Amino acid sequence: MTAAETAAGSPAAPAAPVAVVTGASSGIGAATARGLAAAGYHVMLAARRKDRVEALADELTAAGHQATACALDVTDRPAVDAFAAALDRCDVLVNNAGGALGADPVATGDPADWRRMYEVNVIGTLNVTQALLPALTASGDGTVVVLSSTAALAPYEGGGGYVAAKHGEHVLAETLRLEIVGTPVRVIEIAPGLVRTEEFATTRFRGDKEKAAKVYAGVSAPLTADDVADTITWAVTRPSHVNIDLLVVRPRAQASNTKIHREL
Ligand SMILES: NC(=O)c1ccc[n+]([C@@H]2O[C@H](COP(=O)([O-])OP(=O)(O)OC[C@H]3O[C@@H](n4cnc5c(N)ncnc54)[C@H](OP(=O)(O)O)[C@@H]3O)[C@@H](O)[C@H]2O)c1
Repeated sequence: MTAAETAAGSPAAPAAPVAVVTGASSGIGAATARGLAAAGYHVMLAARRKDRVEALADELTAAGHQATACALDVTDRPAVDAFAAALDRCDVLVNNAGGALGADPVATGDPADWRRMYEVNVIGTLNVTQALLPALTASGDGTVVVLSSTAALAPYEGGGGYVAAKHGEHVLAETLRLEIVGTPVRVIEIAPGLVRTEEFATTRFRGDKEKAAKVYAGVSAPLTADDVADTITWAVTRPSHVNIDLLVVRPRAQASNTKIHREL
């Protein structure tokens, strides 16, 4: 459409649907933002590291997509509320921000780590979901994605605090789905197994790259961030009446949280 046609009163192109992705500054969140942008969403890239979400917004905009960078800590409720209030609309929310801290047994795990994991994985998801639920409902066709983990479904030794937090996130998703049935909002949970992302294991082991590398040692092909993003984008782009309640996705070399084939 030319500028003249617009001036003559032709209808403007409809605004793109909006997808909020938390933890979009790295790994699965950044890859999901790329996937949803390519699917036609205006992606709101939310994470604490502003420089990283700005760089991703620039990359996506340069590729002809719509993206906005937002510095946001999902555990900061006033900041989350202000973020939600500034949005014109919200069609999709991907609760991806989260992660693990430490791999100590229950007997010696640091309660501070357990609290921080609960705070970001559960309360962070609760904060953003509560703040955006009115807009998701008002969209007439909303989708909430909860990125949990196979740790949300079964324990493993040394995983206690993360397993507890991800079980909490899983229960949040299950309960919300029961409570809002009949409204035009779907609740989708994606539970990945072993995914090799740049930061997940390094954050867990507080920068110890040697320990982080052992998580993936001998596994010929762990999942990648793109594999999970592809799964999320697929689930979000199903027709509105189709709700992928819970999707478990693992690499072929992993049969359970503890049964992993390693070629060592
Ligand atoms: N990698 C795996 O094996 C795996 C498997 C199953 C599930 N998961 C889950 O998938 C999600 C993404 O993991 P990943 O592998 O992509 O790890 P990652 O690269 O470490 O990504 C974590 C993201 O969360 C953000 N984040 C952390 N705390 C935040 C906060 N308070 N507020 C806002 N954003 C915050 C980080 O950004 P900032 O630091 O910039 O805030 C980062 O973008 C997590 O929920 C993780 O538990 C991962």
